[in-house]
Amino acid sequence: MSVAVRVPAKVNVQLAVGAARADGFHDLANVFLAVGLYDEVTVAPADELRVTCDGPGADQVPLDRTNLAARAVELLGARYGIAPDVHIHIAKDIPVAGGMAGGSADGAGALVACDALWGTGASREELLDICAELGSDVPFSLVGGAALGTGRGEKLEPLEVGGAFHWVFAVADGGLSTPAVYREFDRLTPVAPVPEASPALLDALREGDVEALAGAVSNDLQPAALSLFPPLARTLAVGTSAGALAALVSGSGPTTAFLVKDAGAAEGVAEALLASGTCRAARVAASPAPGAVVR
Ligand code: C5P
Repeated sequence: MSVAVRVPAKVNVQLAVGAARADGFHDLANVFLAVGLYDEVTVAPADELRVTCDGPGADQVPLDRTNLAARAVELLGARYGIAPDVHIHIAKDIPVAGGMAGGSADGAGALVACDALWGTGASREELLDICAELGSDVPFSLVGGAALGTGRGEKLEPLEVGGAFHWVFAVADGGLSTPAVYREFDRLTPVAPVPEASPALLDALREGDVEALAGAVSNDLQPAALSLFPPLARTLAVGTSAGALAALVSGSGPTTAFLVKDAGAAEGVAEALLASGTCRAARVAASPAPGAVVR
């Protein structure tokens, strides 16, 4: 018997970052939007906990207990007194180390899959608690759709989205470490204001207004990501010249995100990005997308 769960990637349409807190994390106003690029996580009983992975970038995915999928299964097992002896297989399609919450998606996916496999009967709140323990972005991977994340990003308030938004994601050659990008943010930002969600951005999401959303997106981590990975500036410029309505670094990067008018425009921007040689791959996806779903 096995259980498979599909989990989406995310883009941050606003990532407002405050000063470092005493625990080292940063307070955020983090507007998450789930996008239709998915990992699929399958769990099946086994002699011991084991992780395998295939798909683009699979060779960069850790297969030991540092993988959030393995940690999720261990935490759930510990809570319910169940030995975490499962084989977790990750069919990877979300760019690895790209700022699109691929690792968080795998954590949420493994948690939901094992919960179904073991029939724990855990409540949604309990699962979300475990997600928050795993990482700041993991609760959002579980719920999907769109949400405002506050605290370190783990306290979620669902947001209404009034229409589909179309995106192109340029996958960079290489990855960026999230802690390193936050450290660079601290170096570049001696005094960070208290992070607040932009009312114009929330209105644009609610109304499904792509032009208004394009005018309101922002990412406070972008200068830090560009400082650590300067070639991203060219990728952003190529997407903008090709007609993207907005271009930004996705989360802590180095994936870059291009908001476009419709699915047709997405194809044109993707082709221009690939032809420019400034990225390894260009992926087209629509938002919002549902959260973790058992297949
Ligand atoms: O929560 P998560 O494990 O995904 O965070 C990874 C790293 O990103 C943290 O160790 C921290 O360096 C940084 N981070 C942060 N503030 C946040 C979220 C993440 O400084 N709100």
